[in-house]
Amino acid sequence: MAYISLNDQYINQFVHAHELVQIQPMINTADQLLRSGTGAGHTFRGFLNWPVTYDKLELQRIKDTAALIQHNSEIFISIGIGGSYLGQRMAIAYLNGNFYNDNPNRHTPQILYAGNSLSSAYLADLLTLLDGHDFAVNVISKSGTTLEPSLAWRVLKQKLQVQYGDDEIKNHLFITTDRQHGALKAEALAKGYQTFVIPDDIGGRFSVLTPVGLLPIAVAGGDITQLLQGAADARLAYHDPDIMHNDAYRYAALRNILYRKGYAIELLESYEPNLHYFSEWWKQLMGESEGKDGKGIYPSAANFTTDLHSLGQYIQDGRRILMETVLNVAKVPHDLSVPTDADNYDGLNYLAGRSINQVNHTAYTGVIQAHLAGGVPVMSVDIPELSAYSLGYLIYFFEIAAAISGYLNGINPFDQPGVEAYKKNMFALLKHDNEME
Ligand code: PA5
Repeated sequence: MAYISLNDQYINQFVHAHELVQIQPMINTADQLLRSGTGAGHTFRGFLNWPVTYDKLELQRIKDTAALIQHNSEIFISIGIGGSYLGQRMAIAYLNGNFYNDNPNRHTPQILYAGNSLSSAYLADLLTLLDGHDFAVNVISKSGTTLEPSLAWRVLKQKLQVQYGDDEIKNHLFITTDRQHGALKAEALAKGYQTFVIPDDIGGRFSVLTPVGLLPIAVAGGDITQLLQGAADARLAYHDPDIMHNDAYRYAALRNILYRKGYAIELLESYEPNLHYFSEWWKQLMGESEGKDGKGIYPSAANFTTDLHSLGQYIQDGRRILMETVLNVAKVPHDLSVPTDADNYDGLNYLAGRSINQVNHTAYTGVIQAHLAGGVPVMSVDIPELSAYSLGYLIYFFEIAAAISGYLNGINPFDQPGVEAYKKNMFALLKHDNEME
């Protein structure tokens, strides 16, 4: 049995057994396209075997570099956007809980992010924060030409240069980019900076288990060997195309059946606040993989119980276009019990002594019952605990589900042509402004 499982026990009022039987041949075709490399975008299937084919020497170099950074820097800044940013951010939050940067017992650097917007206010605030501190920068960009990280890189490189000078800067600056090409690779070669490789056959949104994610995760103290082990075990668990034996494929099948019935929006939900960035990562994975050719489920997210007090009304009573997938974590790292209150003004003493995690789970069950009654299909992905191993497993689950979902819907799950549209306009306008000056 797979370590992470799909719980679809509530779905049968929305999906009939014969629909699952009838989608199986389409799943087989999608699986065949993916595995044999005959599908669209096949040159980007590297994520499939990466958990076993990754460069073991580079993994050691990542661990050594993380140890160096932990030793010489109080702050670590990761520069990147989209697939070069979201995976590590979600992983660091998943593995380190809710208050990593503020934890006084933390022995690893504070982790900050840059290059994921064009806000000069953000960069200025960041520079102020760095004053008087030792820091290291990891710029992550496959192309090396994405505007947001490039501008942040220019600004932070200047600060590094002033603070550390030509020799010492090499212990504070690390580049993750293409093996051979691009501006960052050229700069690293010319200046002798240490680089880590983003594999040619792995696209940005599938790259969290490559050096893109591994270096920042390791700097924050994450066990990257266990992370890869979880993904390697998931690779074996999700190999059989039979949807009755492959939960990742069944998830792809069910959401596709629901999509065809008009459930055009999928909400990924969690009852743990530190999984907020997991949803951000998933939104990119699913949105960029599926949203093309006028098709695709719109990926959205909600944090419960927080958003029950904002989105809850719409989910319960609004247009019936939503389906929900819940990340259901069985065991949290720390549990508390509800204190007894002698005054009992709120009348909640009947909960005294109960586990707060259990209360959270009871809320989850109550929400499922309400939403099912309101006509919202709900399934959950059951996760035993928040560990590096479970995260690797989960990442692989969603990555392979994204690829299969794309082929099921007749699109190329590995390209992102739509992302270029705004860039073309923006660069044309920026060049135009330049010529006018
Ligand atoms: O998934 C993708 O390909 C994108 O999100 C990219 O990762 C993102 O645009 C950043 O690109 P780059 O790594 O080239 O700077």
